[in-house]
Amino acid sequence: MSAILSSVPEPALSSSWAILQAALEHIADTHPDAVFASSLGAEDMVLAHAIFAAGLPIQVFTLDTGRLHAETLALIQLIEDRYGVAVRRIQPDPASIKAHVDAHGAYAFYESMALRKECCALRKVEPLRRALQGHSAWLTGQRRSQSLTRTELPESEFDPVFGLWKYNPLASWTQEEVWSVIRRFGIPYNPLHDRGYPSIGCEPCTRAVRPGEDERAGRWWWEQKQSKECGLHAGNLKD
Ligand code: ADX
Ligand code: SF4
Repeated sequence: MSAILSSVPEPALSSSWAILQAALEHIADTHPDAVFASSLGAEDMVLAHAIFAAGLPIQVFTLDTGRLHAETLALIQLIEDRYGVAVRRIQPDPASIKAHVDAHGAYAFYESMALRKECCALRKVEPLRRALQGHSAWLTGQRRSQSLTRTELPESEFDPVFGLWKYNPLASWTQEEVWSVIRRFGIPYNPLHDRGYPSIGCEPCTRAVRPGEDERAGRWWWEQKQSKECGLHAGNLKD
């Protein structure tokens, strides 16, 4: 995936990078307790580099749903080694997962949207709520051009679902900018991106995309485009 994308010309890339760095510094100044939710996808590796190479005091966590690819989990150690920071792994409540799997099976998300959302609620949303507890702001790597549900994504907003400020510093970035920065700084990334996975979530709910498909076509591919949010960004579905 990374290799086929054209590069953004250097002056434009430097300008986007400088704007991003200034935005992150502002967030760290305004919210000294801000936390960064990293899915370990390409956008989040760019944010990790921008935050940690600059030494900004923003903490990072990943929601370890129990269903992530081994390739995704391996990035945690890479980040810790390269930037000397600890990545918190937030896990779901084992009793709730056991009750759900006992009642519906380990692959219930393929059966209905209700069961898929229930699984996301247990493995992602409840752990996220815990991770954000007591913080005044969080950062995500969402971009507007990723999805129909994100076309109006603001760079900052008050998140009414979790009750704190939410920053999307890459909102206006293109996929080309993301990959140009990854190449420019030699930022580590998930090898699945090179195998046709532009967007990576849990293993059973992510597949490679075919040429010409949009970048989130491999996420919950059996559902309608308009419903493809897992509850982490429920505000994106408000219309
Ligand atoms: S989502 O549908 O899974 O939420 P996507 O993979 O496009 O969508 O991720 C968008 C943003 O949500 C990421 O940049 C990250 O900030 C946050 N996010 C998604 N999955 C996780 C995760 N497992 N752990 C932490 N943050 C996550
Ligand atoms: Fe469950 Fe799939 Fe959602 Fe992961 S993405 S929490 S496996 S439904």
